[in-house]
Amino acid sequence: MKMTRRLFCAGLASAPFARPAFAQDMPLLTAMDATVQLAPVSYPATPVWSYDGTIPGPVIRAAQGSRLERRLLNALKVPTSVHWHGIRIDNAMDGVAGLTQDAVPPGKSFDYALDLPDAGTYWYHAHTNSMEQVARGLSGALIIEEATPPDVDRDEVLMIDDWLLDPDTGLFVDDFAAPMTRSHGGQIGNLVGVNGRYDYRLPARQNERLRLRLINSANAQIFGLKLEGLTGWTVALDGMPLAAPEPVTDTLVLAPAQRMDLIVDVTAEEGETAGLLFAAADDTWRVLAEVSVEGRAASVPRGAPQPLPRNPRMEVVGVDAAPVLDMPLQGGAMRGMEGATFDGQKMGWQELVQNGQFWALAGQVGMGKTPFATLSRGETARIRMTNDTIFPHAMHLHGMHFRARKEDGALGPMRDTVLVMPNETTEIAFVADNPGKWLLHCHMLGHAASGMTNWIMVT
Ligand code: C2O
Ligand code: CU
Repeated sequence: MKMTRRLFCAGLASAPFARPAFAQDMPLLTAMDATVQLAPVSYPATPVWSYDGTIPGPVIRAAQGSRLERRLLNALKVPTSVHWHGIRIDNAMDGVAGLTQDAVPPGKSFDYALDLPDAGTYWYHAHTNSMEQVARGLSGALIIEEATPPDVDRDEVLMIDDWLLDPDTGLFVDDFAAPMTRSHGGQIGNLVGVNGRYDYRLPARQNERLRLRLINSANAQIFGLKLEGLTGWTVALDGMPLAAPEPVTDTLVLAPAQRMDLIVDVTAEEGETAGLLFAAADDTWRVLAEVSVEGRAASVPRGAPQPLPRNPRMEVVGVDAAPVLDMPLQGGAMRGMEGATFDGQKMGWQELVQNGQFWALAGQVGMGKTPFATLSRGETARIRMTNDTIFPHAMHLHGMHFRARKEDGALGPMRDTVLVMPNETTEIAFVADNPGKWLLHCHMLGHAASGMTNWIMVT
């Protein structure tokens, strides 16, 4: 809290009577060290980097159309910044160190103030050395509430994460930049949990209706999920409402950074197993969040829900006439690439590997001086991502949501992160209606840190 005091004194000197601008009650979000019991109690606790001392950070809730203010206070020993993932935000508030702001040094603060045009499920996380900072715990849920919320009994956030812990010490395995994982699928944890617990439990009553807001905050893990004892509908993806709720009949796939809003009715009887299951590496289904059923809320379930109210600017118009920009996803173990441009220099595969770089987007390794594309404000753009690697990539665009365009021209749901599987091509289409410098990167954070980060400019 030294910071607050220093600022306060400086302010008094310049404006002794008026309330100084910085002293307004901007709520703090403090990036700080903490110790959290992530593993079962028979194991040691884990020193983490956190927002406000908890893993995940506090759930931030705000009303659609309102303005959110948070003063990031950096109490860590390393520089950091906060990205508000999925918010169609003013570029200066996007939190990308090295592109939209300087990282906030230890002991310093940065004021974030953002308008919230869209309702839905979003999240916030560090965007400075994210591969390590997000893995150490710097993330939290950001929930923007509709003026008229859907008719549910409860609204629950389930932030799904994994952690790579040393079971003897409880410490994170301190090898976030391991070339082995960065050049392959990325860092996968040995403990999976929800809301900072490996044994997350949600008590519920039979026929109760819940809204479950799933957020994948893991570094690289793609979760295959299914419901048991629950009848559900998907009502939103990456914050954006679906035109019609889709019954959950199959495995749900949630890639890193993606969100999914479900409305579920608890159909299990008291004492039956219910909950959210995930497909473990050994191909068995394991409980991710248990729903323990006790008592009854109603005699029958409620039946199909209504769609969520639409957000503004959800139309992507003029797609067929828009030019297509090609962005092959390249590199990685077992495929490699001939060469690519890194730091302004053309390099062969071996040289890239020596520089700790394994991936490229359209021949460019990491951010170049010039953007991948420059778009005029209001223009519709199409980016065709062809995955020439043998790994899946969760491609995320900052500042604007997009729709995947299928070969027949049909447009998919609006989202901000799309999973592109090996040897697949995904074309995204969006209206470039938000001026500024916007990242387009893989959200497998080790990939992003070793080549899979590019940017576009909207003028
Ligand atoms: Cu969720 Cu560039 O990030
Ligand atoms: Cu990737």
